Amino acid sequence: MSDNIYLPELARIAHIKEEIGGERAIKTFRVEPVEGDTFKHECGQCAMLSVFGRGEMMISIASSPLIKEYKQFSIMRVGRVSATFHELEVGDVIGIRGPYGNSFPLDDWKGKNLVFIGGGVGLAPIWPLITTALAQRADFKNITVFYGARSPRDLMYRAELERMRGDANIQLSVDKAEDGWKEFCGFVPANVLDKKPSPDNTIAITCGPPIMIKFVIENLSKLGFKDEQIYTTIENKMKCGLGKCGRCNVGKDYVCTKGPVYSWAQLKELPEEY
Ligand SMILES: Cc1cc2nc3c(=O)[nH]c(=O)nc-3n(C[C@H](O)[C@H](O)[C@H](O)COP(=O)(O)OP(=O)(O)OC[C@H]3O[C@@H](n4cnc5c(N)ncnc54)[C@H](O)[C@@H]3O)c2cc1C
Ligand code: FES
Repeated sequence: MSDNIYLPELARIAHIKEEIGGERAIKTFRVEPVEGDTFKHECGQCAMLSVFGRGEMMISIASSPLIKEYKQFSIMRVGRVSATFHELEVGDVIGIRGPYGNSFPLDDWKGKNLVFIGGGVGLAPIWPLITTALAQRADFKNITVFYGARSPRDLMYRAELERMRGDANIQLSVDKAEDGWKEFCGFVPANVLDKKPSPDNTIAITCGPPIMIKFVIENLSKLGFKDEQIYTTIENKMKCGLGKCGRCNVGKDYVCTKGPVYSWAQLKELPEEY
């Protein structure tokens, strides 16, 4: 084992799923260690993925810690490294280092209702939490998942969400409906206000575009949720992931080590730089 903290482990792409096509396409990659076991992680942590010769990017680990064989990442094509990732094929070798950041205190939430609220690719960072809670279904009360995207074609993990119905209350929405769409039409925060989840003995966890998070939190507050009952994960730009380069800071916090998971009560204490 090298003592160079920047040196990635080698991992092989074992499976690729095209979630969404188009300009901002999303693909889900399963990666397995080339040799031995990969690192352990907790729900909410992320990893630095590299394409050799192209660069690195921070991506949330989108698989449950209960899965030991592989780690899953859902990546939106936005720029240099993510676009190169989208060109990779099964069998290609990438670099991976981590896990980085803190995690959601899922064990503390046993016996409570959980309300997950995701938008777009923002479902990926909370997906390990959703799937781990469902794997330990008896430990939690009601589990509700709100998820929305621009159109039905832009909803990721669609088949997995359909399979969860029965164990969880799945509430999908699209900004713009198309023929045959039978669920909510409108923005995610409006769907939350429409369905009115109860704040009693409940934790709400949200991730998505910053504008969505802002209005989701406003609407949860209107429904009576206290700041301590709302959690989110923030995606400040990151370079090292190790608390060394200062790229990700909010006030005195390096989000790569202190975050990315915060309760709304904790975030309100920080300057509005996220
Ligand atoms: C903790 C954390 C978790 C993340 N999880 C995921 C994930 O699960 N899936 C996913 O697709 N992406 C995720 N991201 C965002 C991802 O890191 C960036 O999209 C990626 O670094 C872009 O790299 P690139 O070289 O392709 O783009 P670049 O060429 O570096 O940038 C392309 C464009 O994207 C913008 N950009 C780059 N990084 C960010 C960022 N962090 N926030 C907002 N805009 C940015 C740039 O300003 C530029 O306009 C996460 C980021 C963080 C910090
Ligand atoms: S990414 Fe370098 S300090 Fe956080």
